[in-house]
Amino acid sequence: MNIESLVRENIRALKPYRSARQDYLTGVLLDANENSFGSVVTAENLTLNRYPDPYQREVRTILAAMNDVALENVFIGVGSDEVIDLIVRVFCEPKWDSIVLLEPTYGMYRVAASIQDVDVRSCLLTEDFQINTGEVKRKVDASTKLIFCCSPNNPTGNLLRVEDILALCDLNSIVIVDEAYIDFAKTESLVKMVLDYPNLVVLRTLSKAWGLAGVRFGYCIADPVIISYLMKVKSPYNISALTSRMTLQALSKGVEVRQTVDAIIQEREWLSGELNKLLCVKEVFHSDANFILVRCTDAGALYKLLAGKGIIVRNRSSEPLLENCLRITVGTHRENEMLINTVKEYYE
Ligand SMILES: Cc1ncc(COP(=O)(O)O)c(C=O)c1O
Repeated sequence: MNIESLVRENIRALKPYRSARQDYLTGVLLDANENSFGSVVTAENLTLNRYPDPYQREVRTILAAMNDVALENVFIGVGSDEVIDLIVRVFCEPKWDSIVLLEPTYGMYRVAASIQDVDVRSCLLTEDFQINTGEVKRKVDASTKLIFCCSPNNPTGNLLRVEDILALCDLNSIVIVDEAYIDFAKTESLVKMVLDYPNLVVLRTLSKAWGLAGVRFGYCIADPVIISYLMKVKSPYNISALTSRMTLQALSKGVEVRQTVDAIIQEREWLSGELNKLLCVKEVFHSDANFILVRCTDAGALYKLLAGKGIIVRNRSSEPLLENCLRITVGTHRENEMLINTVKEYYE
């Protein structure tokens, strides 16, 4: 497959901005109009008055090793939301190209495409929230540059079948597999498949299992050609020195992350069981993520009741296939008990 041919012509021709820190990170640095006198605030062992490494070599090297790929396979964004936005901008010609979404799914794919004036073709998931591959193949044509697959899917919580995702990789489009919640699933990431499928992009984030939503750090693993175009269009210093510092610290804490993930999974199973017992809940869907989708007798009323008590969940009822559905993040045990007790007090 020729990835280059899927890239927008103007992006192929683009001469990227050359930033000062691309060539030199140390020395008598009089090349970037930074403040040579220092910074007004300091952080231990961190240089804040200098622009950070535009190539993010240190963090990318560690992420590459963690994922058993090369540095050239890794791109970092300000959250995976930035990566999503940049992928759309690299491949999709406004007013001309299209993307395919497997809905209901994460809302930012549609927003990123709409900002770029790119057509969104929606393929509904099947009743059991799997990919309708026949339908996707019918909707894809020469203008379809991207197919977004979210696995485990937000807001349904389930994993998509790997064979279905790989079947989409036979199409002449980029297939993005968003694995934001993969750490909560008892299955392997698709990262290794990137080496076999040059049109596969695997998206990861530190916002979920790693507990760093406030830091804003996401990344993708893909073929070096795709990574080189993302590097070309990103703003020169998108990842701050502070973000890199926090990320480097976090990435050394794999054991602690595993413990937290195990605790969240245990709590998810407890919460699922308790939700299942509630009379106002008709169905609790299986979850491979850190949230649970439930179908209620009246999602709007339950949402209002909980919000009135200061317990905020997400009402997904307006999404296709999700009539009367709420999405509930797994909280701490105390928070989950508050939720269950509040519902019981009112309804039972
Ligand atoms: C499926 C999915 N992808 C990406 C994101 C955004 O992640 P980030 O915080 O890395 O931008 C979210 C956030 O909820 C999500 O649910």
